[in-house]
Amino acid sequence: MNRILKPCGRLSLCAEMVREGSRLADIGTDHGYLPIALCLSEKIPSALACDINPLPLKSAEENIAKYHLSDRIKTRLSDGLSEVRPDEVDDVVIAGMGGELIRDILTAAPWVKDEAKRLVLQPMTHHEDLVLWLYENGFAIIDQIAVLDDGKYYTVLSAQYNGQSQPCDSYTALVGKLGLDDENSRGFLSRSLHNLRNKSKGDPAVLPLVRRLEEAIRESE
Ligand SMILES: C[S@@+](CC[C@H](N)C(=O)[O-])C[C@H]1O[C@@H](n2cnc3c(N)ncnc32)[C@H](O)[C@@H]1O
Repeated sequence: MNRILKPCGRLSLCAEMVREGSRLADIGTDHGYLPIALCLSEKIPSALACDINPLPLKSAEENIAKYHLSDRIKTRLSDGLSEVRPDEVDDVVIAGMGGELIRDILTAAPWVKDEAKRLVLQPMTHHEDLVLWLYENGFAIIDQIAVLDDGKYYTVLSAQYNGQSQPCDSYTALVGKLGLDDENSRGFLSRSLHNLRNKSKGDPAVLPLVRRLEEAIRESE
């Protein structure tokens, strides 16, 4: 997107899942590239670029100024969503953090449980903890895609509150809405399987999940 985000990379996928015309909060914005790309392409009118650390926020501010977007993208020092008001944003992106941290950020902002808001989440690790939290807290996963970026697999998902909590077993948490007919999804889940096999050496209770995932991947090939 506008050569700011790598085509087909993990942040491009996040950008694709943001809704047209929405006011965005990018939590953990760092360089600010995501809101910059989305505003330059005119997909969104405005954004809040938030970070818990002043240094990345300064770098975001410099980049925003470089692209003449200071009137449309405001920066904000914020731990998660603590400094963001619900009436300021429609879509929230949280990318490039661990799944547990993303879950904790969402837990601390109960206002995300709003059918009008859309979440776009890109966990670097422990995506299954995030999926479990979403299902148990009444969110529907609208879309989940895996991507291969610089030789590493990532998953990006979009979710929206519908108030219908669902029980979620460990297999569903791991696979979420990934389609096993997709090569990147299989690559992503094969990496999860590798990690699970290692975990099962010290924790045999994980073995049934290992077997189930092995079977699902085998059947999809
Ligand atoms: C690895 S960078 C990810 C940057 C960008 N979102 C991406 O995906 O490329 C993580 C950023 O999240 C910020 N961060 C970490 N914990 C945070 C929190 N609780 N609230 C807001 N930002 C946080 C860090 O300061 C850092 O700039």
